[in-house]
Amino acid sequence: MPLKERIDSLLEEARKIKLSSLEESEKYRIRILGKKGEMNKLFEDFKQVEPELRKSIGQALNELKTAVQEAIQKAKDDFGKDKGASPAADLDLSRPADSEIGHRHPLSQIREEIYRIFGKIGFDISDGPEIEDDWHLFTALNFPPEHPARDMQDTFFVEKNGNNDVALRTHTSSVQIRTMMSKPLPIRTLCPGRVYRNEAVSARAHCFFHQVEGLYVDKGVSYADLREVLMYFAKEMFGSNTKIRLRPSYFPFTEPSAEMDIACSICGGKGCALCKGTGWVEILGCGMVDPNVLENCGIDSKVYSGFAFGMGVERIANLLYRVNDLRLFSENDVRFLSQF
Ligand code: DAH
Repeated sequence: MPLKERIDSLLEEARKIKLSSLEESEKYRIRILGKKGEMNKLFEDFKQVEPELRKSIGQALNELKTAVQEAIQKAKDDFGKDKGASPAADLDLSRPADSEIGHRHPLSQIREEIYRIFGKIGFDISDGPEIEDDWHLFTALNFPPEHPARDMQDTFFVEKNGNNDVALRTHTSSVQIRTMMSKPLPIRTLCPGRVYRNEAVSARAHCFFHQVEGLYVDKGVSYADLREVLMYFAKEMFGSNTKIRLRPSYFPFTEPSAEMDIACSICGGKGCALCKGTGWVEILGCGMVDPNVLENCGIDSKVYSGFAFGMGVERIANLLYRVNDLRLFSENDVRFLSQF
């Protein structure tokens, strides 16, 4: 049979063929496209075709090849393992739901509990940027020029630029400054947010964590007010029998400054691994706002006074839930998160 007629009859077959299983399709593929198949024979004979017929016969050959491939593909679609693989194929709407309802992240839960406790005594919430300039981060807060926080080893700088450095905030005390400069007095506010420190990541340190700071500025605010407010907070957060103590400390932006400990919630003050045998665990830093800081924000320190405090949310979570590896809070492992 002349070449052209052989091609035409195979083409007609390819267009009409109904392959009714994968095996049938495979046999067909081998017969036509296999090594010793019809197609190779046709191509072999094609070499002998006179030049003027080459173009039309070449086109016919290509047409045949496409038609054969389409027939094989159709069989794959009809009988292959991906058969009917439309997105809805696996959807059984009558199946009971096996996914759990999500919930707030443990750190968000603690942060919201802090909002609730201070909200009851009139504290609102203030916000500020995570990328902060030197003035709001250090200078206005009374940090001396040579303070180690102004060093690359402790702070992630975005721009190092003389007195106009820009950094990822190392604490949310910068929001206190922004609040004192923008809100009318008296101020009673919380400044929550993520903060960044240039630390090697380990169970005990992370390059970011979360703080909530508090600030109260009014006429006649005293250290006794600070103590009462923090005592109230500790009892609400850790239970009504919680004891607190304030130890003298130092922060550039408060004078006097203190750190607050609560009696260890694990051993009740007898001494254990968590409190390293002391019976006390530190939970926050605090103090009376340094008059310089008030003045830097345009507040008359002879008329107004204030207190401030700052706590780490992870630290509180550690004490409440005994999670002592900070990394767990940002790994998003459902096995960990679903416990809260
Ligand atoms: N900014 C301090 C820190 O990041 C925490 C702190 C201490 C905040 C005392 C305060 C404060 O407002 O009064 O370590």
